[in-house]
Amino acid sequence: MRSSTRVLAAALGIECVRTFVSALDVTVPFFAPYNSNLLSPTLLSFSIEQDRWPDWAGVSERNEFTYKALQNYQALTGQPPNIRVGADSADHTIWSPDVSIVADEVFPTPDALTPYPEASTLTVGNDYYMLSQFLPSGTRMIWGVNLGLDNATNAVNMAKAIVDAFGTQEVQNSGVSLLRIEVGNEPDLYRNPTHGLRPKGWTVQEYVSDWESIADPVVEAIGISSNSGPVTLQGAAFSGQGYTPREIFALGILGSEAGATISTISQHRYSANFCNGGDLGLISFMNKAAVRGNLSIFDADIAATHEQGLVYILGETNSVACHGAPGISNTAAMALWVIDYTLQAATRGISEAYFHQGIGYKYNFIQPVTLNFSTIDNSPLDPPEPPHIQPAYYGGLVVDTFIGDTGSAAIIELSVDDDDVSGYAAFENGLFVRAVFVNMHPWLASDSGTRPSVHIDLDVMLGFGEDGSPLLDVDLFMGQTATARRLVIQHADDVSNLTWAGQSWENSDISPTGGLDLEMVDFSAGLDIRATEAVLVTF
Ligand SMILES: *[C@@H]1O[C@H](CO)[C@@H](O)[C@H](O)[C@H]1NC(C)=O
Ligand SMILES: *[C@@H]1O[C@H](CO)[C@@H](O)[C@H](O)[C@H]1NC(C)=O
Ligand SMILES: *[C@@H]1O[C@H](CO)[C@@H](O)[C@H](O)[C@H]1NC(C)=O
Ligand SMILES: *[C@@H]1O[C@H](CO)[C@@H](O)[C@H](O)[C@H]1NC(C)=O
Repeated sequence: MRSSTRVLAAALGIECVRTFVSALDVTVPFFAPYNSNLLSPTLLSFSIEQDRWPDWAGVSERNEFTYKALQNYQALTGQPPNIRVGADSADHTIWSPDVSIVADEVFPTPDALTPYPEASTLTVGNDYYMLSQFLPSGTRMIWGVNLGLDNATNAVNMAKAIVDAFGTQEVQNSGVSLLRIEVGNEPDLYRNPTHGLRPKGWTVQEYVSDWESIADPVVEAIGISSNSGPVTLQGAAFSGQGYTPREIFALGILGSEAGATISTISQHRYSANFCNGGDLGLISFMNKAAVRGNLSIFDADIAATHEQGLVYILGETNSVACHGAPGISNTAAMALWVIDYTLQAATRGISEAYFHQGIGYKYNFIQPVTLNFSTIDNSPLDPPEPPHIQPAYYGGLVVDTFIGDTGSAAIIELSVDDDDVSGYAAFENGLFVRAVFVNMHPWLASDSGTRPSVHIDLDVMLGFGEDGSPLLDVDLFMGQTATARRLVIQHADDVSNLTWAGQSWENSDISPTGGLDLEMVDFSAGLDIRATEAVLVTF
């Protein structure tokens, strides 16, 4: 085996001198292992704060930037990302028959910490929901309904307006469909004095009966009675571990009229928060253990959800709560974080991760309208900044290329013996087809000298021997070539200037520019990955 040759060579002091390259042996199963998980074409989806939904969708015509940004992802997986609209502002939304799209929107005063605050109230009408027609054909949506107000009439009004909008000729013709309705956003926070939507001691028992008192009339009004679709409810939507899916299952929520229509359990996760500012440190996000630590907290709820035969998702997530942190959420390092976080989620049984987006949020993948104030400190932008993508968008390109467009790919994580290099393999028809490696060792603008790399050597495992030891075949792919696409980042703390397979996507129509760079990799020679870089290899 090459590894033992290398150990021997090293012992004899004749290992070729690779000062900045450390070598890693990675074993890839040739056949999909029993513990592989299906990769949903909508694994990488989006959640949109509903106060600025008309900006995202477009009002009199579609927002071309949003449309193109989503279509680029659709081209890779065959399915546009799912779009959830709701979040905090859904719990502050009132429906009125006298409003066409949106009225009476009240926004707190922007400041340096929060240049683009969320609306504290808004009133919407039927046409607000009809803007759904402006998304790419095939998009499936999740819409939020107000539980915060504790007014069943308003919740029913909202749900009926949503369902009616999807029944109109315009939305039907657009090919955009309604998948789920979510009653209440982050209800485990309602009892916090800053939210104040429920009394301080509001328990999970009280939540369950309160939810049923609003959600039961909602499902009756829109005529849904089972969790097999086409439209179902999305349950939980908890912010943290304040209440858990396991607790609400134990309290019998699934036995209620509305609970019986829950197909999907959602929880939310941000790895940190910037609600009161602070310096969080970019490097803490370039860390395999931190990514796993932020997701493993859900393992028991994922298992409990699957036991009930339901789908588990992260219905709202991103790097840093309260719209992101400067120097973290808007940086190139986030492209790597998005790859590792999203694929790690998939290996843990999370079917979809909805990355939260607003207008002018620091963690947006997509800034779909012209911004007049800096997302970082609210200083005026002169000239204004036209619609653009942020580095995280490239992470989505890599994830969706890895998923591919067969709809049947499955994933496992590969064991990579390095604290900050992760690897994943994809299988189609039971056979290994792609691998992605993410080197999260930081390479910052302040670094100089030779940029470090790791070298990956791949061993293919055909199965297990009678004694349980892996059967490796290092010769199977000997002399064969694979194709590599590289996500190139100048520095982890840059906010632009990335390339994916040699091409930049940072232009007004988000089209790849520059020559496509597909590297031929000699399988037996392995490949080098620089610090702060990702590589996708297709076999
Ligand atoms: C509940 O909402 C309806 C419809 O918006 C409104 O007419 C009614 O006054 C509300 N009830 C309360 C108690 O606020
Ligand atoms: C979540 O991620 C952040 C940032 O990477 C890290 O600081 C934090 O320790 C992680 N949390 C857990 C529970 O691992
Ligand atoms: C920036 O200003 C332009 C021109 O007034 C306006 O159309 C646009 O909506 C503004 N952007 C935001 C995010 O408010
Ligand atoms: C972008 O990267 C290239 C090298 O690939 C460099 O020459 C250029 O200065 C960078 N531009 C910015 C804006 O950082």
